[in-house]
Amino acid sequence: MSPVTVSRALAQLAAEGLVVTRPGAGAFRAQPRPQAAAAGDTSWQEVALSADGAADVVPRSVDASGVLVSLAAPPPGVIEFNGGYLHPCLQPERAMAAALSRAGRRPGAWGRPPMEGLPELREWFARQIGGPVTAAGVLVTSGGQSALTTALRALAPPGAPVLVESPTYPGMLAIARAAGLRPVPVPVDADGVRPALLADAFKATGARVLVCQPLFQNPTGAVLAPERRGEVLRIAREAGAFVVEDDFVRRLVHEDAGPLPRPLAADDPDGVVVHVCSLTKATSPSFRVSALVAHGPVLERLRAIQVVDTFFVPRPLQEATLELVGSPAWPRHLRAVSAALRSRREAMTAALRLHLPEPALPHVPSGGYHLWLRLPDGTSESALTAAALRAGVAVTPGRPYFSAEPPAGHLRLSFAAVAGTGEIEEGVRRLRTAFDDLPGRPGQRAGAHRPG
Ligand SMILES: Cc1ncc(COP(=O)(O)O)c(C=O)c1O
Repeated sequence: MSPVTVSRALAQLAAEGLVVTRPGAGAFRAQPRPQAAAAGDTSWQEVALSADGAADVVPRSVDASGVLVSLAAPPPGVIEFNGGYLHPCLQPERAMAAALSRAGRRPGAWGRPPMEGLPELREWFARQIGGPVTAAGVLVTSGGQSALTTALRALAPPGAPVLVESPTYPGMLAIARAAGLRPVPVPVDADGVRPALLADAFKATGARVLVCQPLFQNPTGAVLAPERRGEVLRIAREAGAFVVEDDFVRRLVHEDAGPLPRPLAADDPDGVVVHVCSLTKATSPSFRVSALVAHGPVLERLRAIQVVDTFFVPRPLQEATLELVGSPAWPRHLRAVSAALRSRREAMTAALRLHLPEPALPHVPSGGYHLWLRLPDGTSESALTAAALRAGVAVTPGRPYFSAEPPAGHLRLSFAAVAGTGEIEEGVRRLRTAFDDLPGRPGQRAGAHRPG
């Protein structure tokens, strides 16, 4: 065996507690661990966890299921149409590894960073967003999820209403509910959130926060229309409310998209917008670096909550981000992802039109990583999702995307987390099988194929 293999084996045994290594002396068998103590009685926790909150206006509930659906790995052999991140073959693995290794050797890399983030990284985020945004308004945060949590906790007290698009990202609804907030849905159409309904919702609820995704909205893929951008900001301003802009997939624009609208934050001199953008979607779920951007006194509130909750983003990761986005591999990677997502989207839409025309596909987005299908009336989402899994494809049901009763059944199909277009076609064929297996369906269609 090579010395490297031996030292890796020893490191693993040491980590498992089976050997101890003494520098200069060798590796020795560790003392056996004492027997585990008898399992205690944890039933008291049921009472403790339910006892508080009696005085809460809106009971807090922590439910991670909407988030886990896009994070959990599917069982072996199952095609992952429910993933929320790029498949490893689309991730810039080499560039991230090189960036991390260079970052680890930068002077001071393991020291304490400034609490708001490294100045050069704040500067980079500010340049990316554009408009009046400067580095002083940027806080470096640990992924979009954490930035949204900070924003909602900072902007709305427990019990307060918060306006959300309908449908919207279940992870954000989970954040709101865990903070004791009351999500109030405002419908989205092909042009984004509907201004007249937004104005009504502000009036009816007195909410001080709207959370929206103006670009390639999750799940509909809608882009806020140019004439609505100013209107949404004006309506929020008149209501004395903040707009939390979750700009989560700007970097996953498809090759055939036209020029992208600027972030709302770039056209907001009055500090209405609290902007969130994250690098995870274009890199890897583990590359947890994002920015929370604001202007005015609210910045201090956001900064305080971020420091209290998480201190700061690990400096090596911030340094690695600077290495990554400054390397020639970064623009190359973004171009490659842009081309791959376009061909995956085309493969999925073509396969759906061929094999599964029944669900409506009202909008084909030119960015992001998924399609949003409306199921025919009377189709049970949960039965279809379960049948799909039996047929070997994991899909995301639409229900968790609605904070109130949904108008119809939906499915979200992701094309980023699979290995390639072959898997996309096979996944859609499996979905056809699942559809035919639903109670009341006529049975197998010609050409549909059951996986072995
Ligand atoms: C709309 C939206 N915002 C934010 C996030 C959070 O992503 P992350 O914390 O990895 O940046 C997600 C993840 O799926 C999302 O879909």
